[in-house]
Amino acid sequence: MDILDPRIDEHLHAVTTVSPSPLGEMEAYAKEHGFPIIGPLVGRVLQQLVIMTGAKEVFELGSGYGYSALWMAMVLPPDGSVTCTDGNPDNERRAKDYFEHAGLRSKLHFRVGDALELFAKETGPFDLILNDIDKEGYPDTIKPVKEKLRSGGVFVTDNLLWSGRIFDSDPSESTRGVIEFTQELYDDPDFLTTIIPIRDGIAVAVKK
Ligand SMILES: C[S@@+](CC[C@H](N)C(=O)[O-])C[C@H]1O[C@@H](n2cnc3c(N)ncnc32)[C@H](O)[C@@H]1O
Repeated sequence: MDILDPRIDEHLHAVTTVSPSPLGEMEAYAKEHGFPIIGPLVGRVLQQLVIMTGAKEVFELGSGYGYSALWMAMVLPPDGSVTCTDGNPDNERRAKDYFEHAGLRSKLHFRVGDALELFAKETGPFDLILNDIDKEGYPDTIKPVKEKLRSGGVFVTDNLLWSGRIFDSDPSESTRGVIEFTQELYDDPDFLTTIIPIRDGIAVAVKK
């Protein structure tokens, strides 16, 4: 299922300027290898959120090779940093190369392993946390994220419309993770949550 009418999606991409280097190369890599990245429409929203919240400390659960992290790093202040996590060490190497290329290597911390286990070792607080791990793990993110996100900070989660699979009559484990997470987040009185229906749907939840 298309989340956006294809004409609207095309229009939004057409009015969006070409992603600066090396984001364009990272997009080409994703296309060639079928790797799921947030894409430029969501990348711009992430940059807006970093700027609006005055974020300095950003954490990402499930970073891939650092595409979404690089969008955010590009607008962080000089003393800001983004901590990435991923289970695949190849992604760490690739992310470090791209950040080096962008002249932003000093802003990147990359930890390899299970994202939530690595997050548990952090003291925080964080200003913005991006969540893009395997979807069956989504419900387990809300409690720990809430504890380490500052008040007024933003919790962003990708894929909440899940290409329409949220409407499946017999949802898979990952789809159930998305459905359960969405309702819990909306019901949580400590967050003010909205899903922005671009690309695959991103939740923006502000911690009160
Ligand atoms: C959708 S991709 C992330 C894309 C990235 N946010 C971007 O837009 O550039 C998800 C990544 O999270 C990693 N991942 C999924 N579940 C994880 C977990 N529980 N712990 C660590 N990494 C995980 C996968 O290896 C994959 O590289």
